Amino acid sequence: MERTFAIIKPDAVERNISGKIISKIEEAGFKIVGMKKIQLSKSQAEGFYYVHKERPFFNDLCSFMSRSPVIVMVLEKEGAIAAWRTLMGATNPANAEPGTIRKEFAKNIEENSSHGSDAPETAAFEISYFFNAFELV
Ligand code: CMP
Repeated sequence: MERTFAIIKPDAVERNISGKIISKIEEAGFKIVGMKKIQLSKSQAEGFYYVHKERPFFNDLCSFMSRSPVIVMVLEKEGAIAAWRTLMGATNPANAEPGTIRKEFAKNIEENSSHGSDAPETAAFEISYFFNAFELV
């Protein structure tokens, strides 16, 4: 079984649609093995997204991600990393497939409602950034 890391981002938590996103996750057959609601500091967001630090959108992204609470999760399923990215849809909701989370809920390319790891190494880093072994059940 593979694990991936997921975030329900501030734009979705603010609009009270986290439950709709969690329903989609469960309906798609993922097990939620870890979940908590937290508010990131700006520096925690910067650490999480450090691979994007040279990008022009980095500062805005970290301000957005720390402006209000998020829900962080660890999802388990065969092929979880690819499956969660498929369920989220393209980063830019304008390019996302119908039925995906970003097509249905994202506001724009930055406030795109959800995040998912893009590779096993990234998933390992992202899971350990937010969870210790006792929090994964
Ligand atoms: P995420 O999958 O969390 O990974 C990096 C995030 O940066 C991405 O989702 C978006 O929230 C944001 N992002 C990516 N590209 C852009 C862009 N061109 N402009 C603004 N934000 C972006």
